[in-house]
Formats: sequence, C-alpha cells, structure tokens
Amino acid sequence: MPLLTWSNDLSVKIYSIDEQHKNLIALINNLYDAMGAGKGQAALGAILKELVDYTTTHFANEEKLMRAQAYPGYLAHKKEHDNLAAKVNTLQNDFSSGKPVMTVEVMRFLKDWLTSHIKGTDQKYSPFLIGKGVT
Ligand code: FEO
Repeated sequence: MPLLTWSNDLSVKIYSIDEQHKNLIALINNLYDAMGAGKGQAALGAILKELVDYTTTHFANEEKLMRAQAYPGYLAHKKEHDNLAAKVNTLQNDFSSGKPVMTVEVMRFLKDWLTSHIKGTDQKYSPFLIGKGVT
C-alpha cells in the first residue's frame, strides 16, 4: 500500500504542476517501499537522490511560473521551498555519512509536508495564475 495517494483534492488545476506533484508522490512512495523491502543503503541513496533532485527541479519550475506572472505570494512561497530544501539537504548529507536517518518518521514528515504545502500554499496561487491564463 502506498504511503501517499494522489487525489483531486491535491489538484492545483494546472496540468504541468499536477503532473510534477504526482511524480513527487511516486518518488516518496518508491522510497517508502524500498525502505519497507529492506533495500540496502546504495539503493535507498539512489532513490533519495532522485527525490531530492526532482524536488529541486519542481521548486524551480513552480518559482519560475510564479515570477513570470508576478505572483504576489512568491517570496513567502519560496521561503517554504527553501526551508524544505535545507532540511532535505541535511537529510541527504546525514544519510551519506552513514547516520540512520531513513525512518518511518522521516517518510511521514515528507508526506505531511508535501500534502500540507500543496493544500495550504500551492493551491493559493491557482486562482491568480489561472486568471493570468496559465493552464
Ligand atoms: Fe509544489 Fe510549492 O511546491
């Protein structure tokens, strides 16, 4: 059973962003499944890297879209991205140095962060960006 499942209540009603969020959910589930299957450090590290890299790409895409339309909530939104990116970088560094950081609590944190960020922050830009013609 996946840790996190896409549903319409997570939609920002912008196709490309919804697709990116679905990919992030899939990567979080991959990492969770790999942990559950007792995969080794190398396999977990590869999936974690993929998740971190994709998160960076997604944040950059979303920020570019907000900047292009002069979204007024951009700076506060970017701050949330930067905070999560810093946490995930620390997580990745700790993992690389052999600390036992890949835990169920970390997976729950990622799941809760993503769902609350999408619902509480990403969905706020939808009316503004859609009003500017973003689809
Ligand atoms: Fe979809 Fe603001 O991250």
